[in-house]
Amino acid sequence: MRTMEHFRNRRSVRSFTKDDVPEEVIAEALEAGNLAPSAGNLQARDFVVVRDHEKKRVLADAAHSQQFLADAPVVIVCCANQERIAGYGPRGRELYCIQDVAAAVENMLLYLADAGYGACWVGTFNERKVSDLLRLPMHVRPLALLPVGRPAAEGRSPSRMGIDSLVHFEEW
Ligand SMILES: Cc1cc2nc3c(=O)[nH]c(=O)nc-3n(C[C@H](O)[C@H](O)[C@H](O)COP(=O)(O)O)c2cc1C
Repeated sequence: MRTMEHFRNRRSVRSFTKDDVPEEVIAEALEAGNLAPSAGNLQARDFVVVRDHEKKRVLADAAHSQQFLADAPVVIVCCANQERIAGYGPRGRELYCIQDVAAAVENMLLYLADAGYGACWVGTFNERKVSDLLRLPMHVRPLALLPVGRPAAEGRSPSRMGIDSLVHFEEW
């Protein structure tokens, strides 16, 4: 059973040891990602697993020099697939496939934290550069870069707004 600790234990990790991440861990993280809900169960998401050093360096560059992307043993590039969601029209293309990816990313982050690995959701990057580097088709949009590795340092623990300031009952 999931406890609140399960959610509290996940932190964004931006510093990694040189230890490798076994293929099985990446495979399970991807499986966890794809167990997330998706609009119409169409799973309008694709993942590109990057281990190549030079490619990771270019990813870091595309992400405005977020160097920890180059330092992580693995980066999983999480993409929306606009073709697979096309049956839903503009709402599918502009919203559902993005939500499909977001749900998968959170599952992956929680799985990795449970398995003793660190990761960070990186959304600040130049999409064109990432698409060119990975030869993504036009209908595939990179949305999140997930560097994965063994944490070299405890992730910060940023506070949250009080839930009272975010939740509204019955109306705004
Ligand atoms: C859509 C999105 C984009 C993000 N982009 C970045 C990013 O480019 N670089 C980064 O270091 N962290 C990024 N983060 C991570 C957040 O900074 C982090 O989740 C937040 O500070 C809360 O910390 P926590 O994940 O440890 O709870 C992003 C998170 C989300 C959800």
